[in-house]
Amino acid sequence: MRIRKKSWARPELSACPYYISEPEALRGHWMERFGEKRPIHLDLGCGKCVFLAEAAEQHRTVNYVGIDLSYDILGVGRRNIQSAFGETQPDNVLLCYYNIEKLQRIFAPGEGIERLYINFCNPWPAAKHHKRRLTHTRQLEAYLPLLENGGEIWFKTDNDDLYLATKRYFSEAGLEIFFDTQDLHGAHDPENILTEHEILFTAQGIKTKALRARKA
Ligand SMILES: C[S@@+](CC[C@H](N)C(=O)[O-])C[C@H]1O[C@@H](n2cnc3c(N)ncnc32)[C@H](O)[C@@H]1O
Repeated sequence: MRIRKKSWARPELSACPYYISEPEALRGHWMERFGEKRPIHLDLGCGKCVFLAEAAEQHRTVNYVGIDLSYDILGVGRRNIQSAFGETQPDNVLLCYYNIEKLQRIFAPGEGIERLYINFCNPWPAAKHHKRRLTHTRQLEAYLPLLENGGEIWFKTDNDDLYLATKRYFSEAGLEIFFDTQDLHGAHDPENILTEHEILFTAQGIKTKALRARKA
């Protein structure tokens, strides 16, 4: 996702109490950085935090970490989070700029990570690029040691090929799929929180495909 350069994004992030500028230094200590000990959910490729802002505002008993590889997008995300929380500073959200392909460099096993969200990640359609998919088996195998036993991965996409491939990647990684739909909105799931891309694709009549799987 490309957006227009935002000169204010990095200064605002630097001044933000819940933006982590050196996430590698927190490896093994994320829980201490949060105000309270609660299960940690990661939003991988959080984008403009449309989903994260609502999730964190609704679920105060969960600690959320939003990770993205664009300062401009994270800057917009920070503003969206602040709008959702109004005057107060959230104590259950942290944001950081990092490449998810290197997630093990910022999180250690046993940090209390109970759920990963992968929402509308890049489908990388060319076969030679499939390994870059955030749901590729190789990536899942890197995430799994960081996830608590019984921890979950919640995945949503507009893309049929990525949905089908991700089902296979989940099985190859030994994940147990407990929720699978090719029309999430038709399934009327009360737990669903819309993401920015979900809103855009739904407006175009494209159905949201979703998988939820558990680490055995
Ligand atoms: C298509 S957007 C989806 C944003 C949001 N999850 C949603 O559903 O609206 C994908 C996001 O993932 C981020 N991203 C892609 N590859 C990444 C990587 N390797 N590490 C961190 N973020 C990444 C992009 O910068 C972009 O903001």
